[in-house]
Amino acid sequence: MNIGKIRERVLAELSKSADVKTLDMLRVKYLGRKGELTGVLRSLKNKPLAERRRLGSEANKLQKELETIFSEAANRLMTKNQKLTTDPDLTRPGEKISVGHRHPLTRVENEIREIFSSMNFTIVEGPEVETEYYNFDALNIPANHPARDMWDTFWLKSFSNPSRMKSNKSRITNSILEKNSRDNIREKFERYLLRTHTSPVQIRYMETHKPPFQIVVPGRVFRYEATDASHEINFYQLEGLMVGSSVSLANFKFVIEEFFKKFFEDQKIQFRFRPSYFPFVEPGLEVDIKLTTKNRKLSTWLEIMGAGMVHPRVFEAVKYKNVQGFAFGVGIDRLAMIKYGIPDIRLFYNGDLRFIRQF
Ligand code: DAH
Repeated sequence: MNIGKIRERVLAELSKSADVKTLDMLRVKYLGRKGELTGVLRSLKNKPLAERRRLGSEANKLQKELETIFSEAANRLMTKNQKLTTDPDLTRPGEKISVGHRHPLTRVENEIREIFSSMNFTIVEGPEVETEYYNFDALNIPANHPARDMWDTFWLKSFSNPSRMKSNKSRITNSILEKNSRDNIREKFERYLLRTHTSPVQIRYMETHKPPFQIVVPGRVFRYEATDASHEINFYQLEGLMVGSSVSLANFKFVIEEFFKKFFEDQKIQFRFRPSYFPFVEPGLEVDIKLTTKNRKLSTWLEIMGAGMVHPRVFEAVKYKNVQGFAFGVGIDRLAMIKYGIPDIRLFYNGDLRFIRQF
């Protein structure tokens, strides 16, 4: 048995072990209870006296030497890696935990909710999958009416149930369809779609509540359209509806001016109310704003929302009598784009963290 050879091997392997773990494995391999050197020492008792003496002192010497070498190497490696974790500098500032934050659209929607809440509006939500009745018919947009072209629609594959034909809502649908359409479409089942605007929630709310009330409805809407910098296949809208015995356009003007002054933090913002057409309002109008800003792009008139006095046909659909009210619809994405100078609506949806993290 050659103790010198063992020594050479240990030293060669030792020079290759670069971390505390391999070092420890090496120590166990030679000096552990079943280690090679330990084995040599143990086998001495069966050897003749002379050999026992010689080998014994050599092996003992090597054992001592290796113990020192191992503990020195361990120390060296510890200073390099492990000391950092086992012996931290307690005065070092902590590492920041990244906690994430709200999406810019959520932030803007929350701001809008707060402003309308402060003006005593109730916040209401409705379903994203709608029926043709709520999205169109009840809003005075009958089938085959050219106004339907204003909303390119994602229709859902029919999963409608014939028994629904007997439901109350379908009967209303059918009576309105009969009135408004030359085609006999009574045979058709209720068709489903992704809502193209938040206006259907007007109908849903009025069906289950009595006036007077004032609500706003934030929510996601869908359009079957080609996308570009100002068009997305889905975006967010805010619907407004105020109904009472004498709610007028003057009330609308006040509410909406208050809202925009607060939202854009601009008391000198200018307004323009232009006549326009939407089937569910009469008169219908569009609102333009002009901000007090040095930014040339934003210091022009910006089309911002559709609105009007609720159409009598809409009140008829929900069996309201002797009331009047105003309604409006505004794009939340567009408001966010103006407020934060965002040039392309698609940035909200493509998940690029470099964009999101700026907010
Ligand atoms: N729903 C309309 C759209 O998406 C926006 C709108 C216009 C809503 C006029 C209204 C309104 O309530 O009165 O294009």
